[in-house]
Amino acid sequence: MTPAPTPSTPPPAQPTFTRGVRIAGVGSALPERILSNADLEKIMDTSDEWIVQRTGIRERRIHDPKTGPSTTDLATEALQKALDRAGMVGSDLDLVLCATMTPDMPTPSVSCLVADRIGAGQIAAIDLNGACSGFVYAMNCAHDFIRIGSQTTIGVIGADLITRFVDYSTFGRAAAILFGDAAGACILQACDDTSKGLLAQAMHSDASRAKHLFIPCCERDFFDVEYDERRVNSVQMNGQAVFRFAVTTFPKLIEQTLESAGVQAGDVDHYICHQSNARILTAARDRFGLPEDRFHINIGSRGNTVAASIPLILDELTQSGRVKEGQKIMFLAFGAGLTWGSSLWQL
Ligand code: UT7
Repeated sequence: MTPAPTPSTPPPAQPTFTRGVRIAGVGSALPERILSNADLEKIMDTSDEWIVQRTGIRERRIHDPKTGPSTTDLATEALQKALDRAGMVGSDLDLVLCATMTPDMPTPSVSCLVADRIGAGQIAAIDLNGACSGFVYAMNCAHDFIRIGSQTTIGVIGADLITRFVDYSTFGRAAAILFGDAAGACILQACDDTSKGLLAQAMHSDASRAKHLFIPCCERDFFDVEYDERRVNSVQMNGQAVFRFAVTTFPKLIEQTLESAGVQAGDVDHYICHQSNARILTAARDRFGLPEDRFHINIGSRGNTVAASIPLILDELTQSGRVKEGQKIMFLAFGAGLTWGSSLWQL
């Protein structure tokens, strides 16, 4: 007897959303103090030539430990500019979502303090730690909060004062040359045009490789990295391992994100990657044959600013009129955790 045909399982119903999500305003903030490669030559065994050749960095902005600014100062300034440019005030927001791994104190969070300073009232305030992937994680989460209708207007921030955790001696030089401080922010808002918002996104982590990039906060061996008092509270990095991870991850992430959105590399108007090292970035750019005006690099003057690096570039491009409504833009990041993720937007 022929077996009865197995009823095929219907594909899961795709949710239909009645709102789109738009980027309504962008802002950023930098400390005034410049730390050039020549400054670094005076305090550790390094050279401008070595740094430029290996990383593409010439200078970075850093805070002053005594006079600031703090993470909260930079985050507030960036968000206030984004609000001004969106024609909004703090009380228009439902949520402040701040990606940071360097809050000024364990509690209260940066987002709580920022919400108060911008006069947002008693709204939700969340800090999220995704290290250098934090801004991408935050954009993806904030988008979905709006898309499903639980929030309408969200201030998303990426802010880090990573140089608080840098050892400016020859012992810490591999990491010290890379980092700078900054904040960037954007306002996400619900809109009627349902085509606006995320076309595809990805978020990943893998702590089996955490030992390659971490900040130990007390005196004991972490992972299999031997305790040394100079390591406490300073970035510990296996530069070559992180480099290898990054050069393989960026192209894969771009491919996967394009595929899940069903678009070609050339359809995306702007690629904004976390600024980690110019060599990592140019390798990804060359792999896809993308021109410089689509695949952006500003690490030369900013260094690696952790969660702030993507919104810093987004702000530069927006203020110069290069980012426009109707375009597609992809954000890509990797960082400590290890973490990595992408966010492809229809503007
Ligand atoms: O957000 C993620 C953050 N991290 C990254 O993206 C890091 C990715 N990795 C990198 O950017 C690179 O690995 C670095 C820039 C950190 C290092 O460049 P590298 O070409 O991988 O250098 P290396 O670690 O292989 O070191 C080569 C040499 C070593 O000397 P010896 O052992 O060959 O005598 C280092 O001690 O360069 C030395 N070195 C330096 N020399 C001058 C390491 N740092 C410095 C320095 N100045 N700042």
